[in-house]
Amino acid sequence: MTIWPYPRWIAHRGAGKLAPENTLAAFRLGARYGYRMFECDVKLSSDGVPFLMHDTLLARTTNSRRHLGTAASDIGGEHPWGLLAQLDAGSWHSRAFAGEPLPSLENIARYCLRNGHFLNIEIKPTPGVERPTGEVVAQHAQRLWRDASTPPLLSSFSVDALRGAQAAVPQLPRGLLLDTLRPDWLESALELGCVAVVCNHALWDPSTVTQTHNAGLRALSYTVNDEWAAQRLLALGTDGIITDRVDLFAPQT
Ligand code: G3P
Ligand code: MG
Repeated sequence: MTIWPYPRWIAHRGAGKLAPENTLAAFRLGARYGYRMFECDVKLSSDGVPFLMHDTLLARTTNSRRHLGTAASDIGGEHPWGLLAQLDAGSWHSRAFAGEPLPSLENIARYCLRNGHFLNIEIKPTPGVERPTGEVVAQHAQRLWRDASTPPLLSSFSVDALRGAQAAVPQLPRGLLLDTLRPDWLESALELGCVAVVCNHALWDPSTVTQTHNAGLRALSYTVNDEWAAQRLLALGTDGIITDRVDLFAPQT
């Protein structure tokens, strides 16, 4: 296996559930708990700007309905960045975060680079634009991290998005996300030139970890929020743990 430059502990969507997911406020909170690596979900605006958002729809984590009106599309990827940047992505969580904006990938890159943090960019395309999203996110990541010693880890459940990233910037590290173990899971990761497999943590056992390591890949897990699950993954010798519970797990372990 090649050298793995990333910390073991990775804060999910910034700081899990303690702050509004995928916002700069969440990253800052995760960093206050000592986290040095973050996972976030990235998709494209209609004018091709990569921004942080988990859902295809805006309604759960922004004030889109109030700001845009209920007649407008609620699909984030159907709006230009200039409009998305005006949304309140914090009020839904709690009063303390009212007015928190959606960050662009560039905003988050600046924060991470300036503070020496590592990033796992989960490419989360709007359905129908998987491959171009992979291409554009990889191109932006390459530009933003061009002077950094450690590039971001790109991951996706979408094989098409990973293919796009691979074609656009082959040298950026990639991870295949898996919620179930389909028969060709390892071949698929190898064919995509991945350096890691990032699984639902229940999928790791001695056999899957050994197969992954023997293939030269790293074994990472999401989303691990219980002590027993973390202990099991550490005992299995896995390489990375994505968690919401930045308040429970000290990232130095
Ligand atoms: O990247 C791992 C994890 O974030 C995948 O699940 O739905 O939280 O993006 P989700
Ligand atoms: Mg994610």
